[in-house]
Amino acid sequence: MELHYHDYLQLDKILNAQFPESQKHKLPAHDEMLFIVIHQAYELWFRQLHYEVDSVVAIMSKPALNDNSPELQTVVHRLNRMVTILRVLVHQIDIMETMTPMDFLDFRDMLRPASGFQSWQFKELEAKLGLKFEHRHGKEYYTSELRPQQVEIIKKAEENKSLLQLLNTWLERMPFFEENDNWKNFTTHNQTKGLHPFWSEYRYQYINSLADAEKNNQSAFDGIFIQPGSPERTISSVASRAALFIMLYRGYPMLQLPFQLLNALLEIDEQLSSWRYRHMNMVHRMIGTRIGTGGSTGKDYLKAAADKHYIFKEIAQLNSFLIERRKLPALPSAIEKRLGFVTG
Ligand code: HEM
Repeated sequence: MELHYHDYLQLDKILNAQFPESQKHKLPAHDEMLFIVIHQAYELWFRQLHYEVDSVVAIMSKPALNDNSPELQTVVHRLNRMVTILRVLVHQIDIMETMTPMDFLDFRDMLRPASGFQSWQFKELEAKLGLKFEHRHGKEYYTSELRPQQVEIIKKAEENKSLLQLLNTWLERMPFFEENDNWKNFTTHNQTKGLHPFWSEYRYQYINSLADAEKNNQSAFDGIFIQPGSPERTISSVASRAALFIMLYRGYPMLQLPFQLLNALLEIDEQLSSWRYRHMNMVHRMIGTRIGTGGSTGKDYLKAAADKHYIFKEIAQLNSFLIERRKLPALPSAIEKRLGFVTG
């Protein structure tokens, strides 16, 4: 039999999957259909986000991912696709907001104790990206409303290497600084013991750029870029230096894709955060300060989760340690050649 649009898309299943509780109770509530369809649309997009992140994780797990390879292009391309999907998810809240609080009250009580809090796909996505159990708001109960097999799925995602951890490994592998011959003409104003001359010079320039009120940033700099990592951090000092180097010298051809990768991750965090804030404001508008159907404190819970659940914050934080372009240490020509600017 010829393939048909209807069968290919399994429309029988999708279009027959809306069963409003209000119809079952014979208490008609027009807007419940919208409420169901919009949640289903979200879950379908979550499905696609999982598909993309799984493929990115598979590529990033390869031991020798080359920084200029087509595979890295694929990673950046798919991360950017995730960003575009997340933007649509933020905008979809506009549709939800065409439902008024009174329309919602027509069926809200029939939903208890079901809640978006039970979206295991959402929690699994956070875990795959890199949200650790210990950094979750309400860790005692974030899986309490899920079914045992859904808890299993999330625990497994937490045990596997997250995108954030793989990013750390990839950054740690960045070449250039071990290439001693290429740095032999580089001098620094102030050599810090045990630190590469480039980073000693950078540290010197950074400290000189600080205003009096910012002098504490010196110890923050040393904590992030020099001292061995703390258990609080996923991104090690070696990886943090690599990420900063990428941000500083992103104009060099070899660093353009790595920069786009870092940028896409920050964009994912920003879009996720926009979604959390828009969802939270919608919740406030819809139910005020009442508790959620899932039993949480409602808006307060969502606000705390939104503030705490930034996944790539260790990368965003590196922007505090940039210096003006004109003060950047000039790279030796052998390194410039490696970075793809100087030919011959
Ligand atoms: C009238 C519309 C909505 C209201 C009033 C609402 C309300 C809430 C509330 C109060 C919570 C906190 C948990 C609880 O106690 O229930 C929550 C969590 C959540 N909701 Fe919604 N929601 C709405 C629409 C949506 C939509 C369209 C989605 C899309 C999937 C969604 C996804 C989620 C998710 C993923 C969480 C968990 C967030 C986290 O743990 O960080 N919600 N919602």
